[in-house]
Amino acid sequence: MKALGAGSPRSAAPRAALYQWRVGGVARQPTDRAAGTLSNGHGCPGQASSGATGEEIWQAVRRLYPQFLEIDQLVASNSRRVQEAYSQAKIGRHHFAGSTGYGYGDLGRKAFDEAMADVMGAESAIVRSQFVSGTHAIACGLYGALRPGDELLSVTGRPYDTLEEVIGLRGSPGSGSLREWGVSYRELDLTHEGKIDWEALPEAIAEGRPRVAFLQRSCGYALRSTLTIAEIERAVQVIKGADPGCLVFVDNCYGEFTEKIEPPSVGADLAMGSLIKNPGGTLAPGGGYVAGRADMVEAAFSRLGAPGVGLDAGSTLGEYLRLVMQGLFLAPQFVGEALKAGRLIADVMGSRGYGVTPGPGMHHEPSFITAVELGSPDKMAHFCKAVQACCPVASYVQPVPGVTAGYGDEVIFADGTFIDGSTSELSADGPLRPPYVVYCQGGTHWTHWALALEAVIQKL
Ligand SMILES: Cc1ncc(COP(=O)(O)O)c(C=O)c1O
Repeated sequence: MKALGAGSPRSAAPRAALYQWRVGGVARQPTDRAAGTLSNGHGCPGQASSGATGEEIWQAVRRLYPQFLEIDQLVASNSRRVQEAYSQAKIGRHHFAGSTGYGYGDLGRKAFDEAMADVMGAESAIVRSQFVSGTHAIACGLYGALRPGDELLSVTGRPYDTLEEVIGLRGSPGSGSLREWGVSYRELDLTHEGKIDWEALPEAIAEGRPRVAFLQRSCGYALRSTLTIAEIERAVQVIKGADPGCLVFVDNCYGEFTEKIEPPSVGADLAMGSLIKNPGGTLAPGGGYVAGRADMVEAAFSRLGAPGVGLDAGSTLGEYLRLVMQGLFLAPQFVGEALKAGRLIADVMGSRGYGVTPGPGMHHEPSFITAVELGSPDKMAHFCKAVQACCPVASYVQPVPGVTAGYGDEVIFADGTFIDGSTSELSADGPLRPPYVVYCQGGTHWTHWALALEAVIQKL
């Protein structure tokens, strides 16, 4: 366990590829298509659609069909969950209208919040376009619950990079981090196997009496597995067993719909996430959510808005509600596609001798993200260039690694997505540091990843 600021290994950059044209200030060079520099050079455009690499991928697909069936069963179960929540909330076309100004009496927003709470197995939920990102939703949850003198304990090691400035582990003085507000921080390292340290956990709770115990469900930029819902449930029991007053918050980014239930169903007090990841179903143009105990949701909203503004405020402009409602409905399907793509990436790259997390055959691991250890910066660049060339948007751009303000390592992104920075769409990225790992995620259809993978193999 480490006290505030004591250096555990840093991860590198937000997975959301925010810098489509400017990776950390280094301009990406559009490829001169007219001059033919991209043709056959980086994959999809002009790429032969059959041949040895294509056959290798189709053979992998044949092996994976039993796993694909299991994923389809998960999709069906989660689709039912959303469908039933929509029926329960009586979602209708009149809910798509949106609102302006203060947004009071927005029936669609209210009905969608109810549906979201139901999907999450939570007492209450808010989905708001005003959440800038997952980090912002998580920050609102934390600032809502924590007060000067309280402690925040991260139970899953160092939280995702973008939370370091929120906590006060990094960043400039005067930014208003939790630390500046008098909230102390400790973290419990994961074990060598990347699991929660179950032996140390009860003592860690008893020792500091943290107000909030924080769990990160997905891997971030670390080579570890996603927490299962069973592990989250066990953590809730251990933490509440040691101190019934301790709140359990879950960074749910990339976790939604990878299993049949969500953290609030097993006792987490708050789960928070981004709508341009899993629950937005690739349609949501932005926003985030918090779901859990009604008082904690309200406290988080007080940070997003202001004390006293109340949950019945905040306009939903234009078509936002229709897009997020349709997106959440489609999300289980798209998550299923991404899970299948992940299994395919693991099988093909694993067969070629690359280290993959979760590895080939680990089909019970509910990971939306598949990490491929490439071993060199050059291979990372080749990988990302091949993926970018297969993207529907900006395929003519060649990603290059770049320094991103505030991050220790250069990062490279392949993210030719319709929604800027959306990682529910096909994307791959990674920090330029040993062991040189590219993290792959998203995709509206696994066959798109099959094409990208073929390009990657040819490129490597
Ligand atoms: C586990 C985890 N938490 C939080 C975030 C931050 O999300 P956002 O980029 O939406 O702020 C990420 C981003 O990739 C992540 O992987």
